[in-house]
Amino acid sequence: MPTNLLLVLYGSQTGSAQDTAERIGRQAQRRRMKVRVEALDDYGVANLISESLVVFVCSTTGQGDPPDNMKNFWRFLFRKSLPADSLCRLDYAVLGLGDSSYPKFNFVAKKLHKRLLQLGASALLPVGLADDQHDLGPDAVIDSWLAVFWEKALTLYPLPAGLSPLREDELPPHYIFNFLEDVPVKEAEQHRITEEPAPPSSVHPFLAKVVSNQRVTQPSHFQDVRQIEFDITGSNIKFGAGDVVMIRPCNASEDVEKFCQLLRLDSDRWFTLKSSSESSVTVPSRLPQPCSIRHLVESFLDIAAVPRRSFFELLATFATNELEREKLAEFSSARGQEELHAYCNRPRRTALEVLADFPHTTAELKVDYLLELFPEIQPRSFSIASSLLAQPNSIQILVAVVRYKTKLQKPRKGLCSSWLASLDPSQGDMFVPLWVKKGGLKFPNDLETPVIMVGPGTGVAPFRAALQERIALGRTANMLFFGCRSEAKDFYCRSEWEEMERAGHLKLFTAFSRDQEDKVYVQHRVKEQATLLWDLISNMGAFFYIAGNAKQMPTGVCDALKGVFQKEGGVSASQAQEMLDALEKSGHFQSETWS
Ligand code: 2AM
Repeated sequence: MPTNLLLVLYGSQTGSAQDTAERIGRQAQRRRMKVRVEALDDYGVANLISESLVVFVCSTTGQGDPPDNMKNFWRFLFRKSLPADSLCRLDYAVLGLGDSSYPKFNFVAKKLHKRLLQLGASALLPVGLADDQHDLGPDAVIDSWLAVFWEKALTLYPLPAGLSPLREDELPPHYIFNFLEDVPVKEAEQHRITEEPAPPSSVHPFLAKVVSNQRVTQPSHFQDVRQIEFDITGSNIKFGAGDVVMIRPCNASEDVEKFCQLLRLDSDRWFTLKSSSESSVTVPSRLPQPCSIRHLVESFLDIAAVPRRSFFELLATFATNELEREKLAEFSSARGQEELHAYCNRPRRTALEVLADFPHTTAELKVDYLLELFPEIQPRSFSIASSLLAQPNSIQILVAVVRYKTKLQKPRKGLCSSWLASLDPSQGDMFVPLWVKKGGLKFPNDLETPVIMVGPGTGVAPFRAALQERIALGRTANMLFFGCRSEAKDFYCRSEWEEMERAGHLKLFTAFSRDQEDKVYVQHRVKEQATLLWDLISNMGAFFYIAGNAKQMPTGVCDALKGVFQKEGGVSASQAQEMLDALEKSGHFQSETWS
């Protein structure tokens, strides 16, 4: 029996796809449909055969990969054993969130769409390809795609006769807060995890003590880069070179205070939380119950991010002040998107700053809607810069503290890097919730195989881990190309590399981009070492790695490497490209880049 249940399934890495999915959920409720919104990996995928209408909202990450919370679904869906007509009862729509500055734009959404068709499902409309690079942001595509989607969906699930859609402010909240009279447990206990036999994860992170937090660039250098060490004794955490540590930051305490002030919330109040009976969502499992308002605001609600449009849609429903209501209604409307972009996205205005701009409405906000208004703080990943073999019970990372200017007075700060930089272990015990994940870089097990690593800036982090690990295992051949602006100001880890060189473990090549008139980059050094590199790659089976955060850097290095193949191997440009492709396929060429 077909039901009028709309299922919205998302695969989300940074929370945008989740936010869009939840927005679609609310729009469905307004159209009086039954709806469920779930992460793809929380959904029992075998049930898909009995669903009738599903919207998939999926982002594409990294090199065309699916987000972490849809990886199991992805594996299942591409099983060869699935019969060709298994989903013949299913109507579906796929909305992809992507970034056209990356090569595999919306790859996951396109591939999902193809696969669903192959399994006999029917597409209600063409796949939506939202693009972060669009002048008006991804909403430009999402809005028009959703307009067509609702038109089609309403032909399948029409509104009950005589009823019109509900207004946003007629929707009940998803969650209900139940405030407690007393403080039920000692505050410290809610942050502590009990003995966890399983390795720490997103739901049960390990609270690692900060051992040290050192600035490794000169104070006169424009950028503050930190080397931070965490103690993971007793955590059951295991990792190898190339793996990453996930860290979920907290909001700055002054932001927490400001937020509570604006919303007239008492941060010392405690509450329990349940989902309302009409709700399509479940209470997030990582929120302790009971929980204090301070803990909720500090470690769960993302008030420092640039708010999304759904935030304005919901905020508008609380506005009673005429001026504020008009402005919020405009920001929520399709025609107001350009203005919203100019107000919010371009200057990178935070949700907290927006609240301060709408004080009347903010003071009227109902606490039950907090989790709908603010997305959850997302964890950030950092390449681990140390090896357990060399430094047991320790995780070290290199963090560039993000700070930049927009037309707003106050400089913009990255939430996670600023929070990490603020943790000063000399001021008392500091703890950071973390867990580890397999990373994209794999190093050869065979110690005879030489490795060539190109890591400018903090891109050197995974290579520091690899060097420590390989050296701890025995005598190995390693080459490192490191680039920074100035030998005197940001050549971090210098003494370590020099020590490794002295011990015969490392050949180091440096590129100091601003120590002379013309820029010198790592790719220039790669080119200079053509003969040596060609010998290592073509005769010794060397592995070649790139890591770093400069957007153009990987292309520059790849071009230099192809130049090496042409010059030393005597091949044409297209043959050099084929060689690089072949090396990538066999794992001899790997890259991990971030922005
Ligand atoms: P720059 O800032 O002087 O341009 C670490 O950030 C180093 O990477 C810096 O020396 C930086 O130089 C350099 N870098 C910037 N863009 C690059 C590119 N396209 N290729 C290689 N290195 C780059």
